[in-house]
Amino acid sequence: MTIRQADIESVFREKVGRRLDRVIVRSPGRVNLIGEHTDYNEGFVLPASIDRALIFVVSARNDGLCCFYAADLKDEFSVALTSIERTQKGWPNYLLGVIEELKKMGLSIPGCDVVFGGDIPIGAGMSSSAAVECGFAFALNQLFNFGISSMELVKLGQRCENNFVGLNCGIMDQFVNIFGEDRKVLKIDCRSLAFEYFPFERDDLALVLCETEAKRSLASSEYNIRRRQCETGVGILQKHKREIRSLRDVSPELLNEHRNEMEPIIFQRCAYVVGENQRVLQACEDLHRNDFRAFGGQMYLSHSGLRDGYQVSSPDLDFLVDAASSIDGVLGARMMGAGFGGCTINLVEQKGVDNFVEEMKKSYRHRTGKESNVYVTHIQSGTCLLPMIEN
Ligand code: GLA
Repeated sequence: MTIRQADIESVFREKVGRRLDRVIVRSPGRVNLIGEHTDYNEGFVLPASIDRALIFVVSARNDGLCCFYAADLKDEFSVALTSIERTQKGWPNYLLGVIEELKKMGLSIPGCDVVFGGDIPIGAGMSSSAAVECGFAFALNQLFNFGISSMELVKLGQRCENNFVGLNCGIMDQFVNIFGEDRKVLKIDCRSLAFEYFPFERDDLALVLCETEAKRSLASSEYNIRRRQCETGVGILQKHKREIRSLRDVSPELLNEHRNEMEPIIFQRCAYVVGENQRVLQACEDLHRNDFRAFGGQMYLSHSGLRDGYQVSSPDLDFLVDAASSIDGVLGARMMGAGFGGCTINLVEQKGVDNFVEEMKKSYRHRTGKESNVYVTHIQSGTCLLPMIEN
């Protein structure tokens, strides 16, 4: 990653100049071990920040302009602070939304120069969007000494995505981006926002991501539909128990009791979420006991639920999970993130990793004629400041 930092710093020097007042921030992507589509149902998730990240170099301007340069896309965008609005270009929205949300908090900036880039693949489900939002918000917080707390940065990142980008996402991605730690997974209670770290320090195990080629075009519309279906289910159950606020409050028994009052699809969606919350809690107990085989079992169950109950998987994701399950040394596999594309996450014995990577690439090529990108990832800290490499 240091090499990337040097690259981004040198692009900054070229585009902006030598600025001693610049701040440099590393903002990582994430994996999620288990707990999918539970965050916006006030449930539990178990993500971790990883060794793929964006580097931001940011300095102040005094002329009311914001000038952004996306080093990987070799694309730039400038706008006056007084005329910020959504742009068709796409990527600047993740930065503009942060400035807009700061404004709503009564915090203004005099202008800024921003250069960023890194090695989180875009659209692969490793949450490059939260990395942009939270990395930039963190950098501005440092640069202008706003004194925003870590938890407020998380919420600001989420509001940016909800209000400006337009995806009604939950809080998981922004949370782990800010709070992630080296070699630890983070269990988040998405209702109380209480969190707990679990050591994930087994050198004999690896986390490997296998990417599908599919474009995730369905992801955002279907995501919002799933949210509404969950709310419909909660609405029906609330008629019986007024204290129910979300699917977090619903037990499998209660859900079954009222099954006949719901359209089958609503029941199916709710049953998945209720089951997934239980799987996260079970998986955390497995971690406590250091039982990674049982943990992997929960991952497989999670995938079946996402495929059959929540129906956010895809034939390619299912294929990758099936293929992984038949390879020696694989303890668990499932689709990861919102679904309809992106990656599968696989828990693999370290000694079998090379074979796993080769076998997975071979099967995917055989099926689709295309290469699958396979990433061996390590858990690394959340967003942080980096020292300047040179003056
Ligand atoms: C996306 C969202 C998250 C979460 C996952 C599904 O990554 O940004 O909030 O809902 O999908 O678990």
